[in-house]
Amino acid sequence: MTIDFASDSAAQGNYSHEELFMRIIALKKEINALILAHYYTVPEIQQVADIVGDSLALARAAEKNDADVIVFAGVYFMAETAKILNPSKQVLMPDAYAGCPLADSCPADEFRRFRELHPGAVVITYINSTAEIKALSDITCTSSNVEQIVRQIPVTQPIIFGPDRNLGAYIAKKLGREMILWQGYCYVHEAFSESCILNACAEHPDAELVAHPECREEVLRHAAFIGSTQALLNHTVSSSAKKFIVATEPGILYEMQKRSPEKTFIPAPKDPNNPRSVCTQMKQNTLEKLYQCMLNRKPEIVVDEALRLAALGSIRRMLEMSPG
Ligand code: 13P
Ligand code: SF4
Repeated sequence: MTIDFASDSAAQGNYSHEELFMRIIALKKEINALILAHYYTVPEIQQVADIVGDSLALARAAEKNDADVIVFAGVYFMAETAKILNPSKQVLMPDAYAGCPLADSCPADEFRRFRELHPGAVVITYINSTAEIKALSDITCTSSNVEQIVRQIPVTQPIIFGPDRNLGAYIAKKLGREMILWQGYCYVHEAFSESCILNACAEHPDAELVAHPECREEVLRHAAFIGSTQALLNHTVSSSAKKFIVATEPGILYEMQKRSPEKTFIPAPKDPNNPRSVCTQMKQNTLEKLYQCMLNRKPEIVVDEALRLAALGSIRRMLEMSPG
């Protein structure tokens, strides 16, 4: 079948999911695109993507590929990281307004002053940060490799860690070392409280609690397993448990259920005082927007070259310190 893409820009909103799938796949071939999607996106985006992964897997995939165009269904800092690694490739996002409030909670001028208060400290920052913050950092990390990276820093060396205070506190406690923490947090993971988790555990005594380290300590202390999105997924596959309460963004349940159809997955309930435990920014990626962005080649991620070079060093150091 030949598709007339040229007349399509006006067709917004008129296609079924099946039609959009077919058009996205055909267009992907035509423009030699690679579609990357985070596990927190909606199932239909995960179904059409070439690679679905956590932040580290997607950064690695963005670094090594033969595509001319990278289409990133995730949040802004992820697509920006892909562009920093691939200046000559076109990087597109279905919705460039899909930002990350955790990344936005760490403005560069304030972080610069924070860093200046601790001269001599190594600055390790979570990939959930802007290019400006990465440019102010020595090493970037993700929740999958933060432990591996911190273990390579001499114990006498002070460390500044930002922007996620829960991930930083978890690693500091686990490795028994002090870290100077920026006080940011992810609203999705912060939404779980000890009481809501204990209620869920009481309701499902046969279930194992697994939690992402972006959750608060009061939640993590009850978890049977703590790990990045990828580590949680791997654990649910290899564990002998048949039922899990999952304390992270519920988008991952799609892949968990796919890999272990015989097991039961319960999204951890949010605390009643918190408005949401779903990442609304990740859900801004829809099939329609994905198709339109590939068709119109926008929104395109553009990073100023001086900023790109300044941010590249900390990302490269991460990839060197945790080779895939
Ligand atoms: P990971 O993909 O490293 O598990 O991080 C979770 C997250 O919050 C992504 O924005
Ligand atoms: Fe940001 Fe949290 Fe959403 Fe991840 S889940 S993109 S950290 S708000």
